Amino acid sequence: MEYRTLGRTGLRVSALGFGCGNVGGLLIRGAPADRERAVARALELGINYFDTAPLYGDGQSEQNLGQALRALEADVYVGTKVRLPAASLAEIPAAIARSLEASLRRLGMDRVDLLQLHNPITVERRAGTVSVKDVLDAIVPALGRLVEQGKTRFYGITALGDTAALLPVIDAGVLDTAQVCYNLLEPSAGHEVEAGFPAQDFGRLLVHCRERRAGVIVIRVLAAGALSGADTRHPIAAPAVDPIASGPDYATDVRRARMLGALVEEGHVESLVEASLRFALASDAVSTVLLGYSSLEQLEYAAACVAKGPLPARALARLPALWDRLAGA
Ligand SMILES: NC(=O)c1ccc[n+]([C@@H]2O[C@H](COP(=O)([O-])OP(=O)(O)OC[C@H]3O[C@@H](n4cnc5c(N)ncnc54)[C@H](OP(=O)(O)O)[C@@H]3O)[C@@H](O)[C@H]2O)c1
Repeated sequence: MEYRTLGRTGLRVSALGFGCGNVGGLLIRGAPADRERAVARALELGINYFDTAPLYGDGQSEQNLGQALRALEADVYVGTKVRLPAASLAEIPAAIARSLEASLRRLGMDRVDLLQLHNPITVERRAGTVSVKDVLDAIVPALGRLVEQGKTRFYGITALGDTAALLPVIDAGVLDTAQVCYNLLEPSAGHEVEAGFPAQDFGRLLVHCRERRAGVIVIRVLAAGALSGADTRHPIAAPAVDPIASGPDYATDVRRARMLGALVEEGHVESLVEASLRFALASDAVSTVLLGYSSLEQLEYAAACVAKGPLPARALARLPALWDRLAGA
């Protein structure tokens, strides 16, 4: 397993991380023995970063992850999140502290390595979001106090929301990490895309993260599974997913993913799953790539793909032409 430095935190994290979210759902809906086996195998493969959140399975993900890590006496990095409901925005520091206390109880830990804001960030507050001002004036200072209290070692954000809000938050230089949506259907955090490209333009956010030494944790590397090119979901996966930042719905993302099939047909990679993982790792701003798993086989396959290293230059050189086709489709 390759290890990379997670920005200014200095932590050396595995290039492949373990997403304990709702989409794959192995850590939420898997049988206890399957959950423990998957975490044990992840440790053997050298994975040392696990990502969870209170929202995943309504606390179940944190609880099950904590249980598996304790049973295995694992020494790994754990990141969780805090989602602020609109009603809590009048008392942000107390709401963040309460949420982390509840997370620590479920995880069975005294502290986490990373606490990340889960709300999207927008220029002005909207339903479910927080504003740039909320983040810089209230949320970051509150997260900083939890670092002083030893409840979390580092803090960061989820870089979803308005690009015009995310860039100034990152440029403020106050974040340890950012979770960035970056995949073959949503490449704009790392690459210039044509006007009319069918996804949000993240304005080369990865460059901003690198300049401010915010460690980048890639999320949705398979566009919630669409980049596997399969229409049907694994039986324990979330049956329906809203696309995040990429196409208007899952079926559209699957159709667009198939338009990238030349990468496989021309022999650059064995599969689009391999292409996606190795694409994300081709950015030197990226520290770790989270993948959500429905099965042990998916974990094994992902680790084998990552072991092949970042996508080579000649495969990367094919992408602009393939992306042009997406823009025109
Ligand atoms: N901060 C945030 O707001 C945020 C948002 C999204 C994600 N995340 C984090 O990022 C993690 C990953 O995101 P995600 O689960 O939403 O999306 P993802 O990793 O892009 O996609 C996960 C899906 O990909 C498919 N897959 C995985 N490995 C595969 C393989 N080897 N072969 C074929 N298909 C494979 C599975 O689909 P099937 O189940 O259908 O087989 C799985 O459910 C989450 O667990 C979470 O920790 C954070």
